[in-house]
Amino acid sequence: MREKIETFSELDLTLEHLYNNGLLLSSGKQGNPMTIGWGTVGIIWHKQIFTIMVRPSRYSFKLLEELSEFVINVPTQELKKQVAYCGVKSGRDVNKIEKCNFHLEKSNNISVPYIKECPVHYECKIVNKNDIINSELDRDIIEKYYNEGDFHSVYFGEILGVYKKK
Ligand SMILES: Cc1cc2nc3c(=O)[nH]c(=O)nc-3n(C[C@H](O)[C@H](O)[C@H](O)COP(=O)(O)O)c2cc1C
Repeated sequence: MREKIETFSELDLTLEHLYNNGLLLSSGKQGNPMTIGWGTVGIIWHKQIFTIMVRPSRYSFKLLEELSEFVINVPTQELKKQVAYCGVKSGRDVNKIEKCNFHLEKSNNISVPYIKECPVHYECKIVNKNDIINSELDRDIIEKYYNEGDFHSVYFGEILGVYKKK
């Protein structure tokens, strides 16, 4: 059972995971999990927004383009290995849900399921997408992160609800 919680009540924990091992982004109706290490949470358009950055080469990119929704799952420390795995393997090649022994649960507001083993999850609807544009970006950042191109797309997800294991 999960209860709906205040949107920002688990923000410290969320950002701590984002900074350390990563969060798990779920996309598509089968909830393919991908590790993310970059993102922001805040207010835009008077909405509570979770912003993520996904490179076009990811399988998750295709899934986000097809279905404008995503879930952000906040893992536990015990799931460190699974989080690392979802950051190197692609859903194109393996079923990461099965490999990680994750279980999916139906979300409350969107058709992307959440991961039962992660105690907190955010349900988000994409309200805007932008691309990181080479000519607009700091040269040092380009050298450090975009040697192979593959410039991120930035997805703005309106947070429709945040839920926590009871
Ligand atoms: C700690 C960590 C953080 C990552 N953060 C991102 C990210 O924010 N955006 C991104 O596009 N890829 C990121 N990646 C890489 C993807 O997780 C990785 O390429 C994954 O295999 C893609 O899965 P998919 O093809 O099933 O979408 C990260 C990887 C790790 C290990």
